[in-house]
Amino acid sequence: MSKSALITGITGQDGSYLAELLLSKGYTVHGLVRRSSSFNTARLDHIYQDPHEAERRLILHHADLTDGVALVNLLREVGPDEVYNLGAQSHVRVSFDSPLYTGDVTAMGALRLLEAIRASGIDTRIYQASSSEMFGSAPPPQHERTPFHPRSPYGCAKVFGYWSTVNYREAYGLYAVNGILFNHESPRRGETFVTRKITRAVARISQGLQQHLYLGNLDAVRDWGYAPEYTEAMWRMLQHDEPDDYVVATGEAASVRDFLGAAFSAAGLEWRDHVRFDPKYERPSEVDALIGDATKAESLLGWKPRVRWPELARIMVEADISVLEAELTGATVRIDR
Ligand SMILES: NC(=O)c1ccc[n+]([C@@H]2O[C@H](COP(=O)([O-])OP(=O)(O)OC[C@H]3O[C@@H](n4cnc5c(N)ncnc54)[C@H](OP(=O)(O)O)[C@@H]3O)[C@@H](O)[C@H]2O)c1
Repeated sequence: MSKSALITGITGQDGSYLAELLLSKGYTVHGLVRRSSSFNTARLDHIYQDPHEAERRLILHHADLTDGVALVNLLREVGPDEVYNLGAQSHVRVSFDSPLYTGDVTAMGALRLLEAIRASGIDTRIYQASSSEMFGSAPPPQHERTPFHPRSPYGCAKVFGYWSTVNYREAYGLYAVNGILFNHESPRRGETFVTRKITRAVARISQGLQQHLYLGNLDAVRDWGYAPEYTEAMWRMLQHDEPDDYVVATGEAASVRDFLGAAFSAAGLEWRDHVRFDPKYERPSEVDALIGDATKAESLLGWKPRVRWPELARIMVEADISVLEAELTGATVRIDR
């Protein structure tokens, strides 16, 4: 019998890569999609299967992490072997503008899902998408035993989700794990996250469509990895004999300024000619440096990062230039399914 999985946040960056990975491993993949007034499944277009297709293995369901009853019903209906909770209000800057909403989806949503698993009585394993933002101002390098000190509503919400996951493991014997993932990016990264904002601007500037790029703090130091490799780590965590929590990171530090340099030079441009400061993008409380130590994931899961941030910047710039060229030449046609 092939395995089945339920992914919340399947329409996001990680959800789309994880769905691809699980389909390639023979899983039947169920995805939770929230209702939107416009299509929000663009990242899944290439693997979409029509509901009338016989023996399809990608099945999308409407539900929402704010609706606990819908979660129970969905889990009962699907009975997945594995659940990946990737759904979240995932933008740190936005979490300062919408702190309660972020808490509802990102913190309470994780708890609702854990409680829905317990209430539905299904036998499953759950992965919780925890975040390096939980470390906040704790000095690097951060690892599994580093105390949390979140610096945003998003970070606080993720700490709640983290401890709820640990609590359900300890209290109910649930196979529940936390992946504490450091920043990971790709051509599918949301357009308002700083790396993607930079690589899209590089593409547009190189085509003469834009002159300036407005950014906030350039000094923030992050540990940027490649998203498809990080979804592989998620899957490995749920295959391990014992449930546990793992940091996933490259261990390499770079500032936003460094990433800017790599991205602009990938297109033969000088970032200083184009980048301007806008205080609106600064956070009320900043996280200075997140650099992960993923020794545990390497030794217990055999997971190792391959793509480092300079190559990541190049991959993303090249992808955004290709997308833009396809749009400019009229080659991009969205096939409505
Ligand atoms: N990428 C990183 O660097 C990173 C690092 C550490 C942890 N994480 C966490 O890992 C997870 C995946 O990250 P990502 O980069 O793939 O994020 P993302 O691209 O922003 O995707 C978030 C997903 O959550 C869905 N969602 C939002 N609100 C929801 C709700 N109320 N109910 C159900 N689904 C909802 C979104 O749906 P729509 O498509 O409709 O918006 C989207 O599918 C997130 O939990 C994030 O916080 C990410």
